[in-house]
Amino acid sequence: MRRDDDSWDLASHVGATATLVAAGRARATNSAERLIEDRFAEPLVRAVGIEFLIRWATGELSASDVDEPEAAWGLQRMTTELVARTRYFDQFFADATATGIRQAVILASGLDARGYRLPWPPGMTVYEIDQPYVLRFKAETLAQLGAEPTAHLRMVPADLRHDWPVALLRGGFEPALPTAWIAEGLFGYLPPEAQDRLLDNVTDLSAPASRMAVETFVGASDLDSGRVEEIIRSATRTWRDHGFHLDIWALNYSGARSEVSDYLDNHGWRSVGTTAAQLLADHDLPAMPGNYVAPFDKPSYYTSVLAT
Ligand SMILES: C[S@@+](CC[C@H](N)C(=O)[O-])C[C@H]1O[C@@H](n2cnc3c(N)ncnc32)[C@H](O)[C@@H]1O
Repeated sequence: MRRDDDSWDLASHVGATATLVAAGRARATNSAERLIEDRFAEPLVRAVGIEFLIRWATGELSASDVDEPEAAWGLQRMTTELVARTRYFDQFFADATATGIRQAVILASGLDARGYRLPWPPGMTVYEIDQPYVLRFKAETLAQLGAEPTAHLRMVPADLRHDWPVALLRGGFEPALPTAWIAEGLFGYLPPEAQDRLLDNVTDLSAPASRMAVETFVGASDLDSGRVEEIIRSATRTWRDHGFHLDIWALNYSGARSEVSDYLDNHGWRSVGTTAAQLLADHDLPAMPGNYVAPFDKPSYYTSVLAT
């Protein structure tokens, strides 16, 4: 399913996962409680044009239309987690800029609209790295909507499995400045060795006091991958009945991989982790079901700081 040089738009393959999570953010934004505020998510999902995801984003489909009752994972569960995850990374940037950091890099930015919706401080530069088509589509769609970036926003089209630092440096990135990096919903789509290489590159490009927030492939080393595969395949079967064919399991690279926080800590960073369960509780969101896909006790979100 994966090739070393595969590429994509936002309607298929790995790119469709960006539209999938944007649909979750749109739905959470449209909810009666306005669980998050991402007003760009719905127009972006509409522009991509996957009917099933538009109907999820707008609330036209209900959870019972798309999720198996009692399933360990599904669109509603994903949407709830996205609320916690969005708030986690938004808070990370608020904390990082409060320490004086004025340079950020969003790795695998997809349809993330933080460059347009966060209240960045004056003098902030935000770099986004993703596949060329993904970045172009988002920038053009948001420009058509009249959206203005809230920071100096620089797009860096590159493949994160390959030599992206060259493109980032060419784009104006200043390695002497402390940087706030995020990797949200990325690592499963990188081969294990490319994940290590990416963390090496981030470390090499980071001045002291840089920060990084990541969502990890929780407990990657002790997940029962056969069980996770079955859970995800069974959830996506229901999506197929609605005309959305995305085999998200097949998009992941398998094989043993480093635990991101251990890897960073061995390279001069200090990481503090939070479990998804804790994050849900902190935000008064529904707890995960007992049969959930990942171990509860392992952190899935980390914030790391590079020693000064
Ligand atoms: C699940 S989406 C997450 C997008 C975004 N971080 C968010 O949370 O909305 C995964 C993203 O990773 C990007 N991606 C995956 N592998 C990549 C690679 N090798 N090079 C560049 N981007 C990649 C995809 O294009 C996609 O936008």
